[in-house]
Formats: sequence, C-alpha cells, structure tokens
Amino acid sequence: MHTERLSIEPLSVDHAASLFVALDDERVGRYIGGPDVDSVEGVAARIERVDTGPGPGHDEQWLNWAVLLEGTVIGRVEATLRSVGCGTRMAEIAYIFGPRWWGHGYATEATLWMIAHLRLAHGTQQSWATVDPANMASIGLLLRLGFDPTQPPDFGLGSFDAGDLVFVRHHSGRDESNALVQE
Ligand SMILES: CC(C)(COP(=O)(O)OP(=O)(O)OC[C@H]1O[C@@H](n2cnc3c(N)ncnc32)[C@H](O)[C@@H]1OP(=O)(O)O)[C@@H](O)C(=O)NCCC(=O)NCCS
Repeated sequence: MHTERLSIEPLSVDHAASLFVALDDERVGRYIGGPDVDSVEGVAARIERVDTGPGPGHDEQWLNWAVLLEGTVIGRVEATLRSVGCGTRMAEIAYIFGPRWWGHGYATEATLWMIAHLRLAHGTQQSWATVDPANMASIGLLLRLGFDPTQPPDFGLGSFDAGDLVFVRHHSGRDESNALVQE
C-alpha cells in the first residue's frame, strides 16, 4: 500500500531489526509508559505474538503495519478493532515513529491512510485514541486529522490510563481520507 510519500506494509518479523533501529531512542517512550522496543529479539517476539491475534473468545482484531520511507522503516501504526453494540465497529489506534522522522507530517500521512483503510476495508465507523496530556505532538496529529476531544466511552478503551485525554473521529460516508487509499 502507498500514500503520497510512504509505503505501508503489514507488520512482520522481517521488519523487526529495522523497526528496532528506528524506534530505539529514549524520546519515543516519553509519553507511552516507557520504551517501545527493547531488543531485536524482543520486537520479533512481540510481532509474532500480535500476529496470532487475541485468541478465541475475544471479539477483537489486531492490525499492525510498518511504515517505510524510500525503503527504510520509520515507524509503525496499529489498530485494535471491536464491535461495541448497535452494529458499531470501532478502532482504537496508535502511531509510533522514530525521532529522526518527526516533524515532516509522515505520522499524519500514515495515520490518515490507516483510518481510511479501517473504514473501507474493515467497516469501522469510529476511531479512538488515548493520549498523555503532555504529548503535544500526538495531540496535534489527532487534531490535524479531525479527531475531537471527548470523554472516555462507556464501553471502555484498552489503552486508557487514568489522566489520559481521549479523542474520537467519526468516519462519514463522504470521508475525504478515502482519496488517500491507494492499494
Ligand atoms: C506522536 C508522533 C507520531 C508525532 O510525530 P510528528 O512527526 O510530530 O507528527 P506529524 O507526522 O503529524 O508531523 C507534524 C509536524 O510535521 C510538520 N509537517 C511538515 N510537513 C507536513 C505535512 N505534509 N503534513 C503534516 N505536517 C507536516 C508539521 O508542521 C508538524 O510540525 P511541528 O511539530 O513543528 O508542529 C511522534 O511524536 C512519536 O512517534 N512519538 C512517540 C510515540 C508516541 O508518543 N505516540 C503517540 C501515542 S498516543
């Protein structure tokens, strides 16, 4: 899959080493409770674990992608999909990029692709995100993509920690982000 500047690939163990190189920086973990990567082996093991999915009895789907710029892995985006009643399919999203590539709109571009893909390929009507209130870069990204601040929903969010801000984006039938999906 491609956006204007990026390639997006389903995350696999083949990405483990390059993802480790991209994200092995203490700035990455500052607002997400600690480092996102520990070792190449640790990244590979986690990719294998999420690849197997949440297991029987859990109405959840885990989707993960590597984001590449000119063949180099620069970060990853992920979504957890759930049905939350009345036929509503929602996604809880996250995005993590290497500091070398911050400040160019790459995370915005990849996340916009993801939420359009989630709507078109998986029928999601809402995307949700939880953010540390001090994580201004993440808040800026969400506002840029049309997310609105809101209260934690009754159905709960797996990524919510006390004190987090909560954002939601309702996908409309004429979602402009559709134009960005090139697969
Ligand atoms: C959150 C995170 C992905 C944001 O990265 P980012 O590079 O700041 O985000 P964007 O891709 O939206 O880039 C925005 C910046 O690029 C600039 N920019 C340049 N070209 C742009 C373009 N074409 N489109 C959008 N923004 C562009 C914007 O002006 C903005 O700059 P600013 O920070 O000086 O205001 C990054 O900080 C990160 O990976 N953090 C660690 C993990 C994390 O906290 N994840 C979030 C968990 S909730």
